[in-house]
Order: sequence, then C-alpha cells, then structure tokens
Amino acid sequence: QQDLKGRILELNKMAAKYFYYQLRTENGAQAMEYLKGRRLSDETIKGFGLGYANKYSDDLYRYLKKQGISDELLRESGLMNVDERHGMYDKFWNRVIFPIMDVNGRVIGFGGRVMGDGKPKYLNSPETKVFDKSRNLYGLNIARTSRQKNLLVCEGYMDVISMHQAGFKNAVASLGTALTTQHASLLKRYTDEVILTYDSDAAGTKAALRAVPILKAAGIAARVLHMDPYKDPDEFIKAEGAEAFQERIDKAENSFMFEISVLEKEYDMKDPEGKTSFFNETAKKLAAFEVELERENYIEATAAKYHIGFDNLRKLVNRMALRG
Ligand code: CTP
Ligand code: MN
Ligand code: MN
Ligand code: MN
Ligand code: MN
Repeated sequence: QQDLKGRILELNKMAAKYFYYQLRTENGAQAMEYLKGRRLSDETIKGFGLGYANKYSDDLYRYLKKQGISDELLRESGLMNVDERHGMYDKFWNRVIFPIMDVNGRVIGFGGRVMGDGKPKYLNSPETKVFDKSRNLYGLNIARTSRQKNLLVCEGYMDVISMHQAGFKNAVASLGTALTTQHASLLKRYTDEVILTYDSDAAGTKAALRAVPILKAAGIAARVLHMDPYKDPDEFIKAEGAEAFQERIDKAENSFMFEISVLEKEYDMKDPEGKTSFFNETAKKLAAFEVELERENYIEATAAKYHIGFDNLRKLVNRMALRG
C-alpha cells in the first residue's frame, strides 16, 4: 500500500500523459492551432508537456476509471469536480493544459486555459496533498539547471514558456499568487539575485513592490524589469524579440530605484509643491538605509536620476534621519 501522496503523483502523471496524447489527436487539433497561434514551437510544446482536455466533461473521468482508479483517489487528486447534481466529473474540459511540475519534475497539479476569451481564463488545480501553490514555482525544474546567475520571476505560464523559448531558461512563475516567504527560500537555494518581470499593470506593479522585501528578507537581491509598453514578458518577446528583452534585463532597475519611480507617479512633478513632497518622501526612504556608504550610494543615484544636487539631497536625508 503506497502512501497517498505517491498515488496522487502517479495519477497526475497518468493524466498528464493523457492530456499530452489528446493534444496530438484530431480532438486536440484546435488546441494545437491555438498554441501555434501563440507562436510556440513543437519543441516548446513538448518540453513543457502541454496537453489538451477534451470537450466532454467526463472524458478524463472515464479514461481513469478504465485504468482502475478509485473515486476516492480521484477526489484527492483535484482533477475532478464533485457536486450533488452531477456527481463526479472532470475539472478541466476543452482547455489547453499546462502540467505543473515541482522542482524535481513531478507533476503536482495542472493549469488549464480557455482557447479564446471565455471565463475564467485560467483554471488551476486546487490545493491537494501534493500541490501547494505557495511552495512551488512553475518552471523551476528547468530553470534550476540553467546556470544563470539570476532567476527571472514572472506571473504566468505563458510568460515562462515564451521566455524559455526565447532562450531565457532561468524564468519561473509564481502562478497567480503573490510571492511568499516559502517561494523566497526555495529561490534562495538556487540564486542570490532575482529579476522581477511581472505584468506592467497596476496589479503587477503592486505584486513587485510586495515581493521586494520578501526577497530581501531571504537574502536575495531584487531588480525589477519594466515591461511597458507591453503587458507581460510573453507580449514583449513576441513584439520585440529576445535581444531587446536581454537589453531590458541588462537595464533592469535596482529595487529601490523601482520603488521611487513608482512613488514618483503619485505626485505632480510639474508642480513645485508636488515635487517637494516627492523628494521629502524619497528622502525618508533614503534615511532608512542604515549603512552609511550604502545610503550615500543611493543618494547619489537618486540625485543623478532626478537631476538635483547631491549635497541638497543629502541635507534633506539627514534632516529626515534626525526626525526618525
Ligand atoms: N491566473 C489564474 N486565474 C485567472 C487568471 C490568471 O490562475 N483567472 C494566473 C495564471 O497562472 C496566469 C497568471 O495568473 O498565468 C497571470 O495572469 P494573466 O496576466 O491574466 O494571464 P497571462 O499569463 O498573461 O495569460 P495569457 O497570456 O494566456 O492571456
Ligand atoms: Mn495580469
Ligand atoms: Mn513603468
Ligand atoms: Mn499574457
Ligand atoms: Mn499577463
């Protein structure tokens, strides 16, 4: 009698293989077309084990029953919905399937995307005995072997896949959840530097601002990559290509400089009063650096960025420091 975790993992593998196979049949033709339309190569589709969940909502259920899988195990796997009216039926149907692997390459869950504008856009496996979103990062099983000095952390499946296809095999995603301290300690096993490549919308910016102190607390330096005018890495790479993306990476801002450029947007910089308030706030943040040399370096960088005198800014910072 194998333990439950082991049996769920085995079942997940079976399901992943079934989805993978379905994508390559006539049933999966539309899904394959969708993935090709998103410019994924055969090699990429294979490399990430992408699949297709058929349009009948008992397709996987019937297949797995034929393999002798018990309802009890199916329930534990998160692959099925259960309700009184319909009994047990597939959670994923008529969706492109992204198997989610843990760092050792074991299938721990699934994401499924509609092939168009339907809602919800993505469905994910619920938390199970083997799937904990806050402790796993999509793509890390590949990224850990990429031998890069940093890891790129983004939001979505498609971002990871596009980045890998463009040669950035150090990309991982935090799967729609905020970055957790557990994610940070997992990352710390493989790197001391993370470049955040979240979406350029308000939610992505907020997520990046939240992730920075979590990474820092784990001893990871953070830089933040600006994606605009594009929404996310996938769209950036599609529009501008890998070389332009590499240039952005090289130019990625240090997390403090990113924080103040976000802060800047809250003020009317054309108005002397707005500008003064912005510098006061910035000086407060600068005053929080305890190591003098580090503080000086940031004062210098900030003064240069906003074309103000180093001494003026330092005076302001000292005044803020006195106020505590
Ligand atoms: N997500 C989710 N459920 C949703 C929307 C998003 O779980 N209803 C998660 C998915 O992991 C998704 C990530 O959040 O990959 C980022 O969401 P979003 O930016 O909306 O999607 P993209 O990854 O950009 O998806 P696509 O490019 O396929 O539209
Ligand atoms: Mn988003
Ligand atoms: Mn920006
Ligand atoms: Mn996208
Ligand atoms: Mn996105």
